[in-house]
Amino acid sequence: MKITIFGAGYVGLVTGTCFSELGNDVVLVDIDEKRVSNLNKGIIPIYEPGLSEMIKRNVDEKRLFFTTDSKKPIQDSDLIFIAVGTPPKDDGSTDLSYVLSVAKTIGKNINRYKIIVDKSTVPVGTAEKVRNEIKKSMTKDYEFDVVSNPEFLKEGSAIQDFMVPDRIVVGVNSENAKKVMNELYSSLARTHKPIIFTDIKSAEIIKYASNAMLACRISFMNQLAPLCEKVGADIKEVAKGIGLDDRIGPRFLQAGVGYGGSCFPKDVQSLASTLKEYNLNSELIDAVENVNQHQKESMIDKIHSLVGELSGKKIALWGLAFKPKTDDIREAPSMVLIGQLIKEKAIISSFDPEAIENVKKIYPSLKYSDNMYDPVKDCDCLVILTEWDEFRSPDFEKLKKLMKQKNIFDGRNIYHPKTIRDKGFKYLSVGRK
Ligand SMILES: NC(=O)c1ccc[n+]([C@@H]2O[C@H](COP(=O)([O-])OP(=O)(O)OC[C@H]3O[C@@H](n4cnc5c(N)ncnc54)[C@H](O)[C@@H]3O)[C@@H](O)[C@H]2O)c1
Repeated sequence: MKITIFGAGYVGLVTGTCFSELGNDVVLVDIDEKRVSNLNKGIIPIYEPGLSEMIKRNVDEKRLFFTTDSKKPIQDSDLIFIAVGTPPKDDGSTDLSYVLSVAKTIGKNINRYKIIVDKSTVPVGTAEKVRNEIKKSMTKDYEFDVVSNPEFLKEGSAIQDFMVPDRIVVGVNSENAKKVMNELYSSLARTHKPIIFTDIKSAEIIKYASNAMLACRISFMNQLAPLCEKVGADIKEVAKGIGLDDRIGPRFLQAGVGYGGSCFPKDVQSLASTLKEYNLNSELIDAVENVNQHQKESMIDKIHSLVGELSGKKIALWGLAFKPKTDDIREAPSMVLIGQLIKEKAIISSFDPEAIENVKKIYPSLKYSDNMYDPVKDCDCLVILTEWDEFRSPDFEKLKKLMKQKNIFDGRNIYHPKTIRDKGFKYLSVGRK
């Protein structure tokens, strides 16, 4: 099939590259000229395991193209995906200006029947707005269908998630769009994962409900963590005990420094905002977000209890990305802590395998290292913020020699408290005695 995708960010790049890997002809359109020119030179703007090799292969096979031009790709393609950003506004509602601007461009350039697919995460009712915007911008009346096909990929395992998805959700209201979408995804459905066809509004809600449910599980455990600390219980044991219940399951039950990233925070807020827009109760969803914000802000209390006053103290940070295997720092807990540490005049040194360049753009004068041991030298406390695998079994003897004070705050619960204390460290984690 001939596919055009608007937005060469995480979702657009991964989706477009995977569709081309499956044999489709894909053009990725982005308004960011530098991004497009870099992509055309083989410079990939994000870190995602396996992505650059796959991009190269499909560019070489002449199935994948990058451009800032929108007219020709729109006119040549059968399917047009919208995968641009949907950032939050100050009140938590979703800024649809990028999505609607693409709809306008499609309307101006449409030349025959097309299927327009909303892949961006958008509030319920957006497909209708996209339809209206396209219609309004058309100079001649052409038939088209709008489809909602939310994306569930996770940064860090995005290619695997796309190629072997848990499910594919497609909201349609036309038989032809259903047939084409079914054909498009047929090669993925061979993995026996279901394609769920539903009405458009349900598909739009499914995406927000999925993310809010996952966020809710994290906040639930974070709410219980202080109780475990107070009474001397262990949140990891609690998670294991409830996760073995088939009705609950083990995933997304980790207490820690709170969720971040480009999706959970904004999607939870957007869902709450939609409920309010319809004059409905959003209490539970609001609480999910409030617990998370509190969790991020309360990390500093643990560091205080280990080192006291922070002014002039050296704090080493391991992990800046919001989760491992990505360089994404959007809404990362590290950003909240860095702000607090700077305010309290602590001296920050840090290491992350992938995210340093992104943090440098916000905090150019912090100290960054290209290995995990340098930042720890003479530090008063080591803080673990991202559970990268390489932090799981460090050389503890080396750490002890390097650190001025042997304090560790493990915000991801990657070490066992007794083992670490037996090694001579003063150790705090989340929800464990
Ligand atoms: N990142 C994720 O893990 C993830 C997962 C599932 C869903 N989503 C959703 O997918 C959407 C995209 O997210 P992302 O993380 O890929 O965003 P991103 O910020 O990484 O990329 C968006 C891209 O769209 C481009 N863009 C903006 N306006 C444009 C226009 N008019 N024409 C062409 N390009 C334009 C930007 O320049 C940018 O490169 C969002 O709605 C997000 O919520 C993201």
